[in-house]
Amino acid sequence: LCTLIAPVEAQTYPTRSITMIVPFAAGGPTDVISRIVTGHMAQTLGQSIIIENVVGAGGTTATTRAARAANDGYTLITGHMGTHAASVPLYPKLAYHPEKDFEPIALLAGTPILILARKDFPPKDLKEFVAYVKANAEKVNAAHAGVGSVSHVSCELLHSILDIKPVGVPFNGTGPAMNALVAGQVDYMCDQIVNAVPQINAGTIKAYAIATAERNPSLPNVPTTAEAGLPAFQAQAWNAIFAPKGTSPAIIASLNAAAIKALDDETVKKRLLELGSVIPAPKDRTPEALAALVKGEIAKWSPVLKPAT
Ligand code: MLT
Repeated sequence: LCTLIAPVEAQTYPTRSITMIVPFAAGGPTDVISRIVTGHMAQTLGQSIIIENVVGAGGTTATTRAARAANDGYTLITGHMGTHAASVPLYPKLAYHPEKDFEPIALLAGTPILILARKDFPPKDLKEFVAYVKANAEKVNAAHAGVGSVSHVSCELLHSILDIKPVGVPFNGTGPAMNALVAGQVDYMCDQIVNAVPQINAGTIKAYAIATAERNPSLPNVPTTAEAGLPAFQAQAWNAIFAPKGTSPAIIASLNAAAIKALDDETVKKRLLELGSVIPAPKDRTPEALAALVKGEIAKWSPVLKPAT
């Protein structure tokens, strides 16, 4: 009976709109990447993909909801390095496990991390920033998108390198955190490039460095952390689509194919590259490659991050 049903399901899916849960506020990197790629996927699949922003607890509220959703292909989530890796060591009572409760669908983008500050933050370059935050660690604050978010984890890494513990200011996503940075209400932030490029180009914030080995073509004037004197700070996040565990292989294959088609589309590619994303190489676009990435990232972050108190 199963073998008779499976092909029919593959031919008919999707018959109605799909909900894509975004675990952070609208306008942030997860939301923007998700909207760019799912806009094209919807055309391929012939059904709309409705973005639902579900915020809270560094993305883990939404990810818990996605883990518990029906595994029928109609509720998906755009997760990332935080929700599907760093959250594991940070939240000992996490209500889901990224590997046990999800089917990986496709990696959408790599997103280098930048050290950013409000426009009038006194340090002029990264060396001055390091000296300033060390000297003023009790006064400065760092915006982030909640414990376990990429912005939180990246700045935790930076702070451990600098051996400081400044105050963190949590937001429901780095979309609102960026608004606060532009408004001068917070001092600095470690954020994904997608959120930073428009503001850096508009001159509304400062960028001290990009935490990758090479400069990014979208920000040719921003030095790497190595060039700017802090080679130990290296950080790149990623965003990817997941479905609840047990979603059928036919649905997974159809979603993966639609995601790959989107990544190969010239308009989608141009938009992602303009915002500084790294488009996954063909070998990194399979569900198996995403499963391996998640496993590797959990192993990487587990010894580094201590449970949040
Ligand atoms: C993060 O810090 O995890 C993300 O940037 C949150 C977001 O997409 O807004």
